[in-house]
Amino acid sequence: MAYRWKNDLTPAHVTPKALWLNRRQLIAGTAGLGALAAAGAAHAADDLTPNTIEEITNYNNYYEFGTGKTDPAANAGAMVTSPWSIKVDGMVDKPGDYSLADLLDGLTTEERIYRFRCVEAWSMVIPWNGVELADVLNKVGVQSGAKYVAFETIVQPETMPGVRGNVIPFPYVEGLRLDEAMHPLTLLATGIYGNPIPNQSGAPIRLVVPWKYGFKSIKAIVRISLVDQEPPTTWNKLNAREYGFYSNVNPTVDHPRWSQATERLVGGGLFAARQDTLMFNGYDEVAGLYEGMDLKANF
Ligand code: MTE
Repeated sequence: MAYRWKNDLTPAHVTPKALWLNRRQLIAGTAGLGALAAAGAAHAADDLTPNTIEEITNYNNYYEFGTGKTDPAANAGAMVTSPWSIKVDGMVDKPGDYSLADLLDGLTTEERIYRFRCVEAWSMVIPWNGVELADVLNKVGVQSGAKYVAFETIVQPETMPGVRGNVIPFPYVEGLRLDEAMHPLTLLATGIYGNPIPNQSGAPIRLVVPWKYGFKSIKAIVRISLVDQEPPTTWNKLNAREYGFYSNVNPTVDHPRWSQATERLVGGGLFAARQDTLMFNGYDEVAGLYEGMDLKANF
C-alpha cells in the first residue's frame, strides 16, 4: 500500500511545464523580483519527476564494487543476496540473527518518493519501497540506554572486486542518533519502482535517510546494533575534516573542496542549470531534531 509522506515527490506534484514557465515569466515581469528570477535556478521541488530506473541503477556509489560510477552496475551481478541474515545486537530486548523475511514480517511496506542528495553535489529522485526503520527497531525492542544505531554492510570478497582491492577499509559502517533512526522519514528500503532493489543499489536491504548526504544511506545491511556511544562511520574515519557524523544536507556548509550550495540533477541533461540545494534536502520536518545544535560545528 502506498502511503505518501507529506514531503514525498509524486507525479502529482509535477508542475505542468507551461505553468512553470509562465510563473517564471510572471516573476520576471514583476518590478524588483526580476533579478531574483534571473539569478535563482529553478528548484526541483517545482518540476521534478522520479529518475528512470536506468539512471538510478547505472550511476552508483558502492565502493565494494569499485570506485567508478558504472562499476557497481558492471560488477554487482554476482553478489549473493539470498539467503540473507541480519544480526541485531547491543541494547535490544530481542537480539539475534534474523532472516530478512523474519525481520520484516508483519511490517508495512510503503512507497516513498524521495529526493536523494549525494555529498558529491548530484541528486536524483528515487521511488523507494521499504519499511520505516522505527518499525523494525520497535519490533526488536530498543532498551532505554541505547542512544545510537550502528549499521554494517556485508563483506563478500569473492563477489566484490573493491573489497579484494581494499579500495577503502571494509566493512562499510554507518550510524544514526536514535532519534534520527526513529524518525518516520528514515526507511529501510527493499525495492525501487515496486521491484526488488537491484544489487548495485543495495540489495537486499539498505538504509535511506533523505535529509542526509547519500553516504549515510548504507547498502546491503547485515548488522544493526543499538549502542550508547556515537559509532564510527566509514567516511568520517577516512577523512573527519570532510565528512562529519551528522552529514545533514546543508547548502550553507561547504565541503572543504567544493560548494554545497547547488547540485546537478542526474539525468537533467548536459546543459541543465544546477539547482539550489535545500536545507535538510527540503525535509524541513527534521529541523526539530537539531534544535540548539550548531550545524556548522556538527556537520
Ligand atoms: N554503502 C556501501 N556499503 N558502500 C558504499 O560505497 N556509498 C554511499 C551510499 N552507501 C556506499 C554505500 C554513497 S557515497 C552514496 S551517494 C549512496 O550509497 C549511493 O547510492 P546509490 O548508488 O543507490 O545512488
